[in-house]
Amino acid sequence: MSQTIDNRAVYIEALQWHLDHEAADVLLDEPTDRTAMPDIKKMTEGLKTLPASPSVINQSKAETSSAPEANAPNIMGAAEAVTVAQKLAREAEDLDALKKAIADFDGISLKKTASNLVFGDGNPQADVMIIGEAPAAEEDVQGKPFVGENGQLLDKIMACIDLERQSHEPDKSFYITNILNWRPPGNRTPTQSEIDVSLPFIERHIALVQPKAVILLGGVAAKGLLRRSESISKLRGVFHAYKVPETLGGNLDDAAIPVMATYHPAYLIQTPAQKKAVWQDILIFQEKLKDLYG
Ligand code: URA
Repeated sequence: MSQTIDNRAVYIEALQWHLDHEAADVLLDEPTDRTAMPDIKKMTEGLKTLPASPSVINQSKAETSSAPEANAPNIMGAAEAVTVAQKLAREAEDLDALKKAIADFDGISLKKTASNLVFGDGNPQADVMIIGEAPAAEEDVQGKPFVGENGQLLDKIMACIDLERQSHEPDKSFYITNILNWRPPGNRTPTQSEIDVSLPFIERHIALVQPKAVILLGGVAAKGLLRRSESISKLRGVFHAYKVPETLGGNLDDAAIPVMATYHPAYLIQTPAQKKAVWQDILIFQEKLKDLYG
């Protein structure tokens, strides 16, 4: 009898361990195929159909002689694309206009391979804005950021400090988006030129939402927006002061926005031991919100 009770305790502990480590799929009837290959045909569709204006051809010839292939995936030349992105972003007067500007912008070839533009989700009036890296498969299908398993984990983390995407109260909700609005094929890491060309749009996005505080998820978002080269393990856990550039609608007289960088939920799913670090960061963030509310 006591052995049965002991066994039950061990089984419950094991079950809890799997739930805590987001590994409950081992308990399902059907195995999860983690080796399933991405759809290569879909990923490469459109890559050969770049427009052939003479200025683009000349510019890309100049680029291929000096830059590695992975850094020149955009349809127009990288510098030209950033200039066009800045102009379009600056001219967008509200979130709908910004979404349309991103949809119309042809300076990023990911637009050709992605299924949908992924813009933002949650409450645009929220005091907290969260910025991730780039849409993954589920987000690409639904056209909404963080709806897959990363998003579910993130929602649970934010619920611990009483913030929900769907709340209509600014101090109880968050708004969420990504540095990139299009899914990189196979979820590869975005290239520097893809990040550069997306920054004017995300910075204008911040200017329009006017959050009181921002959370950056993962190294791509943290290094990209903060223009830093250190790893996320160095950038996380402290506040960085961020100001939207004047050219994108920022007012340099306004107080800087406090920005907390932390690990990306995808990293937490792979490395559950880092949940403790994220929890620390989130508690520090919660304290900052309390200070801001006075
Ligand atoms: N990872 C991200 O960074 N963003 C998403 O929207 C989904 C996964």
